Amino acid sequence: MAFYVRYPIGRIRMLERRCYTAESKPFDSIPSPKGLPLIGTLLDVIRAGGVSQIHRYIDERHRQLGPIFREKLGHVEAVWLAEPALYQQVFQNEGACPRPMLPEPWLIFNKKHSYKRGIFFMQDEEWLRYRKILSPLLLKTATLHRHAESFNDVADRLLDQWEHTENGLITNLEGDLYCYFVQGLMCAAFGRDIGLDQEIVKTYVPGMVQHLRNLFEGSARLTLLPPNLAAKWNLDAWHCFEQSALNALQLANQLTETCLEKLPPKDHNNEDDCIVSSLRQQKMAKSNIQRIVVDLFLAASDTTSHSTQWVLYLLAQHPEVQKKIVSEIESVQSSNQKTGDGWQHIPTIKGSVKEALRLYPVATFLTRIIQDQCVIGGYNIPPETLMLMSAFTTGRDERYFRNAQNFMPERWNRHGPSNSMDMVMDPFASLPFGHGRRGCIGRRLAESQMYILLYKAIPRFSFQTDNKVEMIMRLLGTVDQPVQLRLQHRS
Ligand code: HEM
Repeated sequence: MAFYVRYPIGRIRMLERRCYTAESKPFDSIPSPKGLPLIGTLLDVIRAGGVSQIHRYIDERHRQLGPIFREKLGHVEAVWLAEPALYQQVFQNEGACPRPMLPEPWLIFNKKHSYKRGIFFMQDEEWLRYRKILSPLLLKTATLHRHAESFNDVADRLLDQWEHTENGLITNLEGDLYCYFVQGLMCAAFGRDIGLDQEIVKTYVPGMVQHLRNLFEGSARLTLLPPNLAAKWNLDAWHCFEQSALNALQLANQLTETCLEKLPPKDHNNEDDCIVSSLRQQKMAKSNIQRIVVDLFLAASDTTSHSTQWVLYLLAQHPEVQKKIVSEIESVQSSNQKTGDGWQHIPTIKGSVKEALRLYPVATFLTRIIQDQCVIGGYNIPPETLMLMSAFTTGRDERYFRNAQNFMPERWNRHGPSNSMDMVMDPFASLPFGHGRRGCIGRRLAESQMYILLYKAIPRFSFQTDNKVEMIMRLLGTVDQPVQLRLQHRS
């Protein structure tokens, strides 16, 4: 998911001339900025503010060169796209086992420590086999309902804790959100009893959160260096990344081991089963269950907590949207509908999450490596070409979203005033969870945990913010400084 992954360009070069067809233009004719030998346009990137501003740098390049261009940054060569129609062409050509770009520091780490990893790192047949098992467990709509009760309890615990903040200032928003999402995933993975077990939570969650955050920081630092050299010379940035990765994986493995021991064996399948019980039913080996679950923790924690930070930040800037959410919740609760699943029926909550992810996509570039020669945007694309889809750029493009720079949750409400959907001219321009066979497998879990948190939090507190934050790329699209979130009890 992260941008910094290095990809060998030698192979692209070898293959690119082989696959020219008469109807389409050659790969070499894709617009491309002039760069220096060896380092390409790296100096331009540094001038634009460095890797942390890469989303704005690429945005500017699209303005200069159009929706498709080719650029070599450092030793990464990629084709960059910023048009929904071009994204569709990539997904149409992704094949049965799509290949995203994998983070090079992790590939080096996995090899060095002989770590077998979860689905994010799998390829080809192995990936397909596990994805087929996991998709129904994580993506079916029933997943939303199955874990909602546990997510409610985890949200209550967080909000009770916020109730007692001094002067209403949440001092550790990011850390609190990590805890919330880690506990939610524990419930989904091991079931309600284990996920909410205070002993397990106290023993593991604070340490897990600390290690996951260190790992995020360590990985972000490595984006500034070629990871192979950093690893070879054991530079400080590599050492931090390696240590935090070892710590995070070790603790996640211990947590999984403890929870697996506590989970009662079952001999029949039950609709309400947690993820691990279902995997056991399918006779998956314990070591494989462990590597799958451990990696879900790693994939889930940064993405969800950073995304929710953006949602809360935007809502804090828009008290009128918070009021609208409160009134929608009141009307759902006063209607005859069952209130247990009320959180699923609040359009402004869903719209706020979509808007936050449109404006601040944590996965700022979606990635695919083309496997078979194809034509995209009228150009011949040889196998092994790295395609990067510029989600930040299309998410803010006036051609696809009217008043694109503004936070307008109502634009996503299909049942709202008739003109609200005219505000979204092409929903494919914002794909925060990716798309296609390799789209995010945790999407439903992430959405339900985010919706439930907002459903419980907004009627209880009003949120304000004291500071203005900008998006920077630190592995993910995240805040450049901690969000100062203040809350006040609603009377
Ligand atoms: C707001 C939260 C999240 C965002 C924005 C997000 C975003 C993404 C994106 C953009 C991808 C790549 C999709 C593609 O290439 O088409 C992805 C993949 C993935 N995500 Fe998420 N994600 C989130 C939460 C989660 C959660 C909660 C989990 C785990 C429970 C998770 C697990 C994964 C995994 C395992 C993959 C790799 C799937 C595969 O390769 O088959 N994500 N995510």
